[in-house]
Amino acid sequence: MKHLVEKAAELLNKARAVVAVTGAGVSAESGIPTFRGEDGLWNTYRAEDLATPEAFAKNPALVWQWYNWRRGLFRKSSPNPAHVALAKMENGPFDFTLVTQNIDGLHSLAGSKNVLEVHGSIWRIRCDTCGYVEHNETVPLPEPPFCTCGAPLRPDVVWFGEALEAGIIGKVMEALMRAEVVIVAGTSSVVYPAASFAVTAMQAGAACIEVNLHNTPLTPMADVAICGKAGDIMPQIVKAIL
Ligand code: APR
Repeated sequence: MKHLVEKAAELLNKARAVVAVTGAGVSAESGIPTFRGEDGLWNTYRAEDLATPEAFAKNPALVWQWYNWRRGLFRKSSPNPAHVALAKMENGPFDFTLVTQNIDGLHSLAGSKNVLEVHGSIWRIRCDTCGYVEHNETVPLPEPPFCTCGAPLRPDVVWFGEALEAGIIGKVMEALMRAEVVIVAGTSSVVYPAASFAVTAMQAGAACIEVNLHNTPLTPMADVAICGKAGDIMPQIVKAIL
């Protein structure tokens, strides 16, 4: 393990621009279940009933029951050493961009400033009828909450079958094309387009460091693949470069 951390540090110490891509595994040690792991949410819940625009149109109350449960859970959770380490990376000897699939806001809570939340945030609600958007941390919200225009408000997150916000994707692509190292931590690398980010950066010449408890489709392609908990590995990498 130590030699892999050193190899990762070597790559980072040479880099002028770095992008980190994170997923649910980075928040797992904060007590937030992942989606596809042993305790994965999709083992218990049906994504098509809870995380699609069709599900919301059919039963907004059910969708909000689930998002209220998750808001309650996130509210009780705090950043772990992986979040803290990634926040420290902003002080690294390189230009650093953090791209996360997580909607829990724990990266920002840990102090990260330059975070691109590609799947949105559970702490924002929006109206798809009049375009109203609001930052809202009330737990629980009515099921569903209604907009002043009369339409039900929804969580401002990206559901299955929906496109990512164009502005954010533009910033992500720009950072990936400039990156000399891409770190991929705590994601199964199976949900697109986020699962393509590392490959895009590698095709533009970046080296790839993967940190995950298990192998993923990305593991064979990574320059350095470190198998372990992000809360253990990320602080070691940061200690080796800062
Ligand atoms: N440290 C590092 N990796 C971990 C840890 C940990 N402590 N715990 C779990 N992992 C890894 C798992 O091995 C798995 O590869 O994190 C990954 C979590 O994968 P998923 O549950 O699929 O989560 P994610 O990749 O973020 O899902 C992508 O899918 O359901 C949608 O929109 C949702 O953003 C989500 C997207």
